[in-house]
Amino acid sequence: MEKTVTLDDIVNLCLRRGFFYPSGKIYGGFRGFYDYGPLGAEMRRDLINDWWNYFVETRGDIYGIYGAVITHPKTWEASGHVESFIDYIVRCTRCGEEYRADHLLEDAGIKVVDLTPEELSRLIRENNIRCPKCGGELGDPQPFNLMFSTHVGPKHTKSSIAYLRPETAQLIFTNFKNVVFTMGATLPFGIAQYGKAFRNEISPRNFLFRLREFEQMEIEYFVNPKKMDECPYFSSIEDFELYILTAEEQEEGVDEARPARVGELVETGVIGNKWHAYWIAESLKWLERLGLRKEHLRVREHVKTELAHYAAQTFDVEYLFPFMGWKEIEGISNRTDYDLRRHMEYSGEELHIVDDGEKVVPYVIEPSFGVERILMALLTEGYTKHKKRITLKISPRVAPYKLAVFPLVNKEGIDVKAREIYHALKNRYRAYYDDRGSIGKRYAKADEIGVPICLTVDGQTLQDGTVTLRLRDTREQVRVGVDEAERRIEELLSSWPWRRGY
Ligand code: GAP
Repeated sequence: MEKTVTLDDIVNLCLRRGFFYPSGKIYGGFRGFYDYGPLGAEMRRDLINDWWNYFVETRGDIYGIYGAVITHPKTWEASGHVESFIDYIVRCTRCGEEYRADHLLEDAGIKVVDLTPEELSRLIRENNIRCPKCGGELGDPQPFNLMFSTHVGPKHTKSSIAYLRPETAQLIFTNFKNVVFTMGATLPFGIAQYGKAFRNEISPRNFLFRLREFEQMEIEYFVNPKKMDECPYFSSIEDFELYILTAEEQEEGVDEARPARVGELVETGVIGNKWHAYWIAESLKWLERLGLRKEHLRVREHVKTELAHYAAQTFDVEYLFPFMGWKEIEGISNRTDYDLRRHMEYSGEELHIVDDGEKVVPYVIEPSFGVERILMALLTEGYTKHKKRITLKISPRVAPYKLAVFPLVNKEGIDVKAREIYHALKNRYRAYYDDRGSIGKRYAKADEIGVPICLTVDGQTLQDGTVTLRLRDTREQVRVGVDEAERRIEELLSSWPWRRGY
């Protein structure tokens, strides 16, 4: 019997096998920060490369940039983050411990969506919520800005304060003009970048889910505001099916998503325009290609009180984590011309572009993906346990190793041949060689770290030049000639997912 995966299962596997380490562990850890171990570092690289390949390299209408982490301080005044990027904190009047007000209510089973401080305070009192640590009374909610600040240069004055970026998006807006001029970009087009973002989260939690340092992969796609329904790619996604939960449905108390066709959601006005719908569908297509199952993904519209200060309409792509329910892994917002106009106002620069002979400030659709949250979803989706044996059935696109090569035994020239094959294949696939312990243990380890294919060399290899390819997800073994092994591995890796279960 397979059991439901728990957060502990994921954390244990990640720590034990070197996917992630708590940062600063030798000093007792540092809340909200994780370091990538060797396997996690490979997964991260593959995930980002796959994203870049799908959304930048193979399209032609999206330019990639890579901006600075510490950004001109005016950026964050213009973007509204200095004023509005806040959460509410409550302090225990007895022990001084601090908590995020909405998290305390959520932990008590009370549903909250972006409440005012007065509403938070009322709910805390009405539900008699007290300090989880000492039972003391909680003070009134106070605003807390989530941006990390630092000082640039040797002088520590008010004017030397700068911020670590809380989202990568603003670098795209501040480079809008540069990209238009240097690349000759014309509407519609996008700018993409991935990279670190920093948020001083009041209560980081749930492993990689809420971190203080994390990575985003973001696209700002610029469209003439008059042409939000002129999407030349729309027919390619019109019939795409997804699960949707609209703002209206949530306001009526519905909390189950329903299946729908993208075309229908535009026709009925649920998604405000075709470009927004297109980017929702493209995002889901990519997430599904990575191996997240359609029925584990849903698109949830933000209700009015939840909308960020810059957004006209936002949809979150949520993944169904068995241990914490539906949680956001990507946000897709219509940011209108809010950011470009604010940067024009604060910098005095013209941020127009000419389209159809007219100067326009474009609207922006923003698909914003979180690297660690997607990695956590992929690890959760792939994790299976069968009679205490763990198999990580993750896509070969992101598997830390694509191949492992084993000699059945370390003698009679079998090991020499196995090493020879390993050296021939390791330049093509990220592979490792393992001759330690029993073959059964080596297979078990490979399954646990998600190696899709193991190649085993045995006595028969020396006689007839064949090897065994063993598939992780099905445990099937196929015998192939050494000279055709590379082609078969390629075929198998590119035809994943194989039959699920075994
Ligand atoms: N530029 C828009 C923006 O930053 P967001 O919804 O605040 O929007 C986008 O963040 C994505 O970044 C989220 O969907 C999530 O995947 C990731 N993210 C946000 N805060 C995070 C945190 N504290 N820890 C890990 N990932 C986070």
